[in-house]
Amino acid sequence: MNIIGIIASQRKEGNTAFIVNNILKGAKEQGAETAVFSFSNLDIKPCRGCWACHKSDQGCVINDDMQKIYDAIEHADAIVLGLPIYMGQMSAQGKIFTDRLFARFSPRFSPFFKGNAVKQKLILSFNQGNPDAGLFKTYIDYTKQMFEVLEFDVDEVPVVTDLRVGPASEREDLHTGLKEFGSALVVHDLV
Ligand SMILES: Cc1cc2nc3c(=O)[nH]c(=O)nc-3n(C[C@H](O)[C@H](O)[C@H](O)COP(=O)(O)O)c2cc1C
Repeated sequence: MNIIGIIASQRKEGNTAFIVNNILKGAKEQGAETAVFSFSNLDIKPCRGCWACHKSDQGCVINDDMQKIYDAIEHADAIVLGLPIYMGQMSAQGKIFTDRLFARFSPRFSPFFKGNAVKQKLILSFNQGNPDAGLFKTYIDYTKQMFEVLEFDVDEVPVVTDLRVGPASEREDLHTGLKEFGSALVVHDLV
């Protein structure tokens, strides 16, 4: 089983990195192959809306680090997408990643993936400063639906909340809970 993590935050050792890395750690302990991609050390530009990806079979024409992620996605059984809530929505990095998927997904949209109709597992992992886990439920539900439209089979990690009182790395419950979630992905074959 091959699981990749995307850290849609600029903070190298921030909360999103901690969360995604621990989910992957749990999966790795159960034998999964894992790889992680972080916006903190990647150069990934926004979609420029050129539509080149839809006009031929070359995929996205922007030559940046998103090309590594496109390749990794091709071989992944599941993608763990770590998204911090910034101003009530996913971070700008998360949105850039999402927009760039336009080039790779949905045979309806892109001739490049005409033959690729298999739904891939996407695990959404939101985190936020606010303690109220339901505060952004409408937005998170909407985001889930949006990824389903992009033909992913979407699952969610419970939203990690209350991070304004201290970093995720200092929360004992998270160390265990996140690793258990990652482990369950492999053991219970959730992907
Ligand atoms: C620009 C910005 C906007 C934020 N907006 C919200 C928000 O609307 N609601 C919330 O609960 N937390 C908000 N936060 C807190 C982050 O969601 C929280 O600190 C998160 O864990 C940051 O993840 P990171 O360390 O990976 O960047 C915001 C943080 C920043 C930097």
